[in-house]
Amino acid sequence: MRGTNNVGLLALGLALCITSTSAGLTWPSQYDEIEDITFLNNGYNAREFPILLQPCTIAPTTGHSIGAAFIRTAFHDMAPFNAQTGVGGTDASIGYELDSTIYPTNTGIAFNNTMHYYELFFNSQSSMADLINVGLYQAVRACGGPIVPVRAGRVDATWPGPVGVPQPTDPLPQMIGEFKRMGFSPEEMVQVVACGHSMGGVHSAEHPSIVPPRSTPLGVQDLDSTNATFDNTVVTEYLDGTTRNPLVVGVNPASSSDGRLFGLNNRQIVSPMADPNNYATTCATVLAKMVNTVPRGVVLSDVIAPYELKPSNLQLNVAPDGQNLEFTGELRILTNSLPKSSIASVQLIYKDRTGTANNASTISANAVGDANGFDDSFTFYGFSGTIPASISISSFTVLVTLTTGGTQTFDNNGQGYPISDRIFAQTSYSSLSGVDGSGNQQLTVFAAVRTGEASEPVNLSVELINPITYNDLPTVSVVPQAMTSVCAGQYYTFYSSTFGVPATGANSTKYDVSASYNGATVSDSFNSLNGLPAVATASPSCGGAHNKRAVNFSA
Ligand SMILES: *[C@@H]1O[C@H](CO)[C@@H](O)[C@H](O)[C@H]1NC(C)=O
Ligand SMILES: *[C@@H]1O[C@H](CO)[C@@H](O)[C@H](O)[C@H]1NC(C)=O
Ligand SMILES: *[C@@H]1O[C@H](CO)[C@@H](O)[C@H](O)[C@H]1NC(C)=O
Ligand SMILES: *[C@@H]1O[C@H](CO)[C@@H](O)[C@H](O)[C@H]1NC(C)=O
Ligand SMILES: *[C@@H]1O[C@H](CO)[C@@H](O)[C@H](O)[C@H]1NC(C)=O
Repeated sequence: MRGTNNVGLLALGLALCITSTSAGLTWPSQYDEIEDITFLNNGYNAREFPILLQPCTIAPTTGHSIGAAFIRTAFHDMAPFNAQTGVGGTDASIGYELDSTIYPTNTGIAFNNTMHYYELFFNSQSSMADLINVGLYQAVRACGGPIVPVRAGRVDATWPGPVGVPQPTDPLPQMIGEFKRMGFSPEEMVQVVACGHSMGGVHSAEHPSIVPPRSTPLGVQDLDSTNATFDNTVVTEYLDGTTRNPLVVGVNPASSSDGRLFGLNNRQIVSPMADPNNYATTCATVLAKMVNTVPRGVVLSDVIAPYELKPSNLQLNVAPDGQNLEFTGELRILTNSLPKSSIASVQLIYKDRTGTANNASTISANAVGDANGFDDSFTFYGFSGTIPASISISSFTVLVTLTTGGTQTFDNNGQGYPISDRIFAQTSYSSLSGVDGSGNQQLTVFAAVRTGEASEPVNLSVELINPITYNDLPTVSVVPQAMTSVCAGQYYTFYSSTFGVPATGANSTKYDVSASYNGATVSDSFNSLNGLPAVATASPSCGGAHNKRAVNFSA
């Protein structure tokens, strides 16, 4: 019996593994935010992470390559890793390690600037450490390099890590030992450096002994002649003897670390990388290993691929009559292999709140905008439908009808796209005021809670961003506060609460509303403040006749 059970469990485990890798993410996922930031680069609803890399020649500070800064940040964050103890790795601890009197290799403005840029995308669903992976992917790809895949799940450090980035003056055996400590073979060591040194240069301000002050027009000696392209020129120029890489032919031979590494094994490690395709595939592999080197205990996701269909900005609101629900949102369709021109119509088909399919329950969606990533294109289809509150909704699937007459159904890996009608932020009554004298914006949140089903308190939790400062990391703090009951209608009871949000972080702040149903917490989470009006356009009345509990309320 026991043996049979074991075999059964094993088989099930294998089946689940295969399904999850081939089917991609199931929505909603804890990786949805990183998926957006990674792929929604330009166009409608774009997150625009790579705008500083489009084109790669952008250098807000002359001679400082942004792509090189993102790659260097990823390496310096990982490099103190100890494969034996599992301490260190990609955990954004670099944010605490900017004092170059303690961390001698972390000189210059690149790390602080990079961390401040990543903070624009930081929140409870996107750790700084995962943004280091996103930044690596974006820098390499935007500058013409291969896809270094993005995985998520990294956890931000809360204190500085050990010193551990190799120095250009480290003798070869010591360098090999340092990379071994990180878990990298000598071959991988050479590859990481050959890939990591594709862009940017060495700055006199940071390394006067390698690039003497005033020896170059811009105070920087580039590592190769294509300082803003992720390509193998750093290798080919080394091999053909034309290199001006200061870490190969600089004034100080003791600092010629690239020369020593590239020369390892009679150049046999670096030589194959003279082939551009070999360079691209080698770099994709070894840079992924670099950024996926994480502290022991951290569990990374599978490689994140864009959803074929991803709901976005979904919103339920109780209609003014209290008898209907207004359901609005957008469906993001990946159009790589399903071109927009092949799509004739898009329809949501929803199940009622008991989970029963009702053949009349459809809402049509129309194209509202296009977006793209480096390798992906998307079209958003917007919808707005009215659903009787008595029937309501629990999930939907999406039916795409093709111009050929065929159809394609998106069902979220067989599960449908779940929607909870039990509690949601009632955005039509909510608002975000202008900035007050103390630099705050007053957030007023209304929550709609299915009447008679939940137990109080109904909580508002604001995911407040504690901003990054120099030599520190941003954090999120969440303090739940009980919401006040406003009035109860036949189907929904409204609650409200206000919270002063610092204006400087309002764009990244999210809020959740939650209530307890039979002991389990049900919440509408990760709601954005963007789009809330300064003054609410309506307030609840709960429709006199059905009003079970008119609580004293003044807006
Ligand atoms: C690349 O080199 C050129 C010429 O020296 C310089 O003007 C530019 O700022 C450099 N770009 C980057 C991104 O380093
Ligand atoms: C760190 O970067 C931010 C944003 O670029 C800048 O405002 C700040 O002055 C920098 N701090 C230091 C010490 O360089
Ligand atoms: C929906 O289903 C009902 C009962 O099965 C049927 O009578 C009705 O014709 C269907 N309506 C449509 C639009 O298919
Ligand atoms: C927040 O976002 C709005 C709209 O994108 C923008 O106008 C505003 O400058 C942003 N505020 C901050 C503090 O970044
Ligand atoms: C509401 O917040 C309190 C703490 O203030 C907490 O104990 C309770 O579990 C929360 N309930 C829900 C449903 O979030």
